[in-house]
Amino acid sequence: MYIGFKILLLVILIALYHLQQGDSHVILSIKDFLNDSHSTNVDHSKAFQDAWKALCGGSGRGRELSLIIHARETYTIQPQLFEGPCVSPHIHIQIDGTIEAPRMVKDWGSKKTECWLCFGRVTGLVLNGSGVLNSHGESWWSSVGVSSRPAAVRFSGCQNILYKGLTQINSPKNHISITSCTNTTLSNIHLIAPLTSPNTDGIDISSSHNIQILSSSIKTGDDCIAIQGGSYDINITSVTCGPGHGISIGSLGKGGTSDIVQNVNVRHCTFTGTKNGARIKTWPGGQGFVKNILYEDITLINARFPIIIDQRYNYSGQKQSAGATAVKVSGVTYKYFKGTVVADVAAIKLDCDQKSGCDNIVMDNINITSSSPRTPLTSYCKFAHVISRFVSIPIKCDYHVNVQPPSAKPYAEPPAPIAISATPYAELPTALNLTSHDTA
Ligand SMILES: *[C@@H]1O[C@H](CO)[C@@H](O)[C@H](O)[C@H]1NC(C)=O
Ligand SMILES: *[C@@H]1O[C@H](CO)[C@@H](O)[C@H](O)[C@H]1NC(C)=O
Ligand SMILES: *[C@@H]1O[C@H](CO)[C@@H](O)[C@H](O)[C@H]1NC(C)=O
Ligand SMILES: *[C@@H]1O[C@H](CO)[C@@H](O)[C@H](O)[C@H]1NC(C)=O
Ligand SMILES: *[C@@H]1O[C@H](CO)[C@@H](O)[C@H](O)[C@H]1NC(C)=O
Ligand SMILES: *[C@@H]1O[C@H](CO)[C@@H](O)[C@H](O)[C@H]1NC(C)=O
Ligand SMILES: *[C@@H]1O[C@H](CO)[C@@H](O)[C@H](O)[C@H]1NC(C)=O
Repeated sequence: MYIGFKILLLVILIALYHLQQGDSHVILSIKDFLNDSHSTNVDHSKAFQDAWKALCGGSGRGRELSLIIHARETYTIQPQLFEGPCVSPHIHIQIDGTIEAPRMVKDWGSKKTECWLCFGRVTGLVLNGSGVLNSHGESWWSSVGVSSRPAAVRFSGCQNILYKGLTQINSPKNHISITSCTNTTLSNIHLIAPLTSPNTDGIDISSSHNIQILSSSIKTGDDCIAIQGGSYDINITSVTCGPGHGISIGSLGKGGTSDIVQNVNVRHCTFTGTKNGARIKTWPGGQGFVKNILYEDITLINARFPIIIDQRYNYSGQKQSAGATAVKVSGVTYKYFKGTVVADVAAIKLDCDQKSGCDNIVMDNINITSSSPRTPLTSYCKFAHVISRFVSIPIKCDYHVNVQPPSAKPYAEPPAPIAISATPYAELPTALNLTSHDTA
């Protein structure tokens, strides 16, 4: 303890020295926080806590403080809370090495933890590098139920976070949880867990706004990204998903709760071998709304449900009680979808609530083909108000307007960076030439 304190003091003195020299950037190495006994120890938690204290509590007001975990260094740590608010508004952790969780559940310390690396109430953190965070979820999947398993990385109550470049492997549950955060950007990250790993979502977002997820790849056992209640102003751009369950909004309204999600743009994304593509799922009996959602320039490679709105999520067939509510779904646009779909289920499924329905669902340039040419794609539509043009498979909805005018011009190029064929269908499938019978 005493030696540790002296080392910490030394680090702070060095840091202060640099500050006095007028350096605007203080760089610490995790090695500064290790001592001899630790270098042979399997648990480096203490060094990380000491490093966080130096970073977060440091006297670097107005200056950038950095902590570096160098390439080829590997550390094992138990669940950690990295808590703010911090003195410095600019904290930087660069991980080019590997940080691992204990391999066995019993070595995690507390079995009750909700996350492995937990950032709470931190503002202005840059967490980047080319390193790996391996949370060794393998030992959890078979032995601990999902509700008691931790997320790998969690940001809660955080602002102005930039999380970039890292690879995460095998989370016990979701790989990243963003909850009650604003202005947070995740980019160039890689999340990897086996297709068969249970509930290993990529990224879960709840009660957060102004969130961007860019240029990342997510291959896990459950949702690629799930956007939950209280979330708005979210852009997901150039993300490749699969295996996994697609980019989902929901589930919302579970147990009669009121949830809202709005202003979500999912653009230039690819789904390879996923169960779903663009999915919205709400529980019967819930309240609130989902609106202003855009899925644009989506490439499918053997996805199963490329487009699905399920307002009867977990509906087990029982009759809904009179006056039951639903989370209202409106203003959802699907634009420039292309690629192949496994034709064993309805490729486009809009299963909406009888009373509230789904309003203003727009399908524009949906060119999806069956991956087994002899089995054509089908759609399913209940209580949805759909406006469509250039959809490659027939959609039959209760309320359906085909707005493709007779003299329609070739459709415009989709936005950069991915170009789809700019040629319109030579002939529209006749089933699409529906007259409007919008009786609503
Ligand atoms: C150094 O090792 C001692 C003995 O194991 C330990 O008590 C102390 O906390 C360590 N210091 C740091 C900075 O990790
Ligand atoms: C990580 O972030 C720091 C601080 O913003 C920056 O100086 C550095 O270039 C970044 N490194 C990588 C690999 O992105
Ligand atoms: C959002 O966070 C970034 C850092 O990721 C920061 O540069 C920017 O100033 C923040 N924007 C606002 C409005 O706070
Ligand atoms: C999302 O994209 C829209 C349109 O490109 C842009 O106006 C908005 O500022 C972006 N929001 C975030 C949180 O990145
Ligand atoms: C559906 O609801 C029941 C009862 O609330 C629950 O036991 C079951 O796990 C739920 N299924 C799904 C897929 O969430
Ligand atoms: C639709 O996709 C098929 C298969 O990729 C392609 O052959 C066809 O040209 C596409 N149609 C349009 C109008 O882009
Ligand atoms: C659509 O239907 C109208 C009226 O029945 C018909 O004149 C027109 O040729 C049809 N268009 C196509 C592309 O089939």
